[in-house]
Amino acid sequence: EADPTTLPPNVPWWGQYLGDGVAAHPYGMPSEFEAHVVRRNVPWLTATTESSVNFTPIHELHGFVTPNGLCFERHHAGAPSLNPADFRFMINGLVDTPKIFTLEDILRFPPVSRFHFLECAANSGMEWRGAQLNGVQYTHGMIHCVQYTGVPLKVVLDQVGVKPNGTWLMAEGGDASGMNRSIPLEKAMDDAILAYAMNGEMLRPENGYPLRLVLPGWEGNMWVKWIRRIEVGDQPWFAREETSKYTDLLANGKARYFTWEMDAKSVITGPCPEKPVLRKGVNQIKGLAWSGRGKIKEVHVSTDGGRNWMQARLATPVLDKCLTCFNAEFDWDGGEVLLQSRAVDETGYVQPTMQALQEVRGVNSIYHNNSIQTWLVNKSGEVENVRLG
Ligand code: MTE
Ligand code: CO
Repeated sequence: EADPTTLPPNVPWWGQYLGDGVAAHPYGMPSEFEAHVVRRNVPWLTATTESSVNFTPIHELHGFVTPNGLCFERHHAGAPSLNPADFRFMINGLVDTPKIFTLEDILRFPPVSRFHFLECAANSGMEWRGAQLNGVQYTHGMIHCVQYTGVPLKVVLDQVGVKPNGTWLMAEGGDASGMNRSIPLEKAMDDAILAYAMNGEMLRPENGYPLRLVLPGWEGNMWVKWIRRIEVGDQPWFAREETSKYTDLLANGKARYFTWEMDAKSVITGPCPEKPVLRKGVNQIKGLAWSGRGKIKEVHVSTDGGRNWMQARLATPVLDKCLTCFNAEFDWDGGEVLLQSRAVDETGYVQPTMQALQEVRGVNSIYHNNSIQTWLVNKSGEVENVRLG
């Protein structure tokens, strides 16, 4: 307990005794005073936790790397606990030599390491028809960004030899959902990774241990976890997850499908509903920006609901298909403020308002809401999720 008489200039109590020995925590944990920094779910959102999602506490993070234990989880049939000795990964279909790989086999290939964000296509999905959830963890927390280590999928495909008429892959999960997705061969040959590690350690069980597919910039649903098989074919499979799910019903009754790339998006992670404005004067705005099409070029912030914009600072490094941190100052005079951020990526694409997005997509969508988020700072400094216009 804090005893004011031991604070500086006196020597505090914890500077007067020995601390824990080195073996106290063979696998280190965060400070007990950071126990509030956890993934959270919304119990009413799903019937069971096995087919559900929780959210990354992005408002509590620093820099662009998400710690492994805080990466949001999305499972269709729970997270299996796999013994790597029993793990097999198979490639079949239109290939010269179908093969079954052990994890050992995969670990023998030359590794690559890359930082990438993974965003669930349903991130911000509850916000399509109006401001719903009062917290950035819930409106934008279906995202994480880690350093993946693994083998380029191209290297493994070259081992089995894709036949000339092989143009599509079907990636299949080894969990009870057997979740599968069709992937065009070009993406596999471009930057896809079969990853076994994140942030320097083997994948966590909940993120697909011991092997998952990494498809930089593409919707998280395609990043098949606990991957057990890739079949090579000459057309897409039209699996459940790319027909009845992960498609967007437009106003004309047709649906968008194969919407793989995640459009540029940004959000202010402080102030936010969980992080009110505590004092008048100069405050820091901080946030995250990302694009599935490459690097973030600029982020703009507004304190008047998008009438005026100013340029935010981007923290280096700014990496491809990776979270980018931004910050800017704003001077709070104690009045109502409407905070917004707007990302521009290297293709010149500008993050749209919800109004602009709805003009194109209508109001039936669940997925791919990359619209500008508005936070209302009221006169007490509390922050609320609001919809303008
Ligand atoms: N892969 C399998 N095998 N089973 C799953 O339930 N969920 C998908 C994808 N891959 C899923 C899967 C979805 S919808 C997302 S958003 C990401 O995994 C989530 O990855 P994470 O749990 O590592 O955050
Ligand atoms: Co998802």
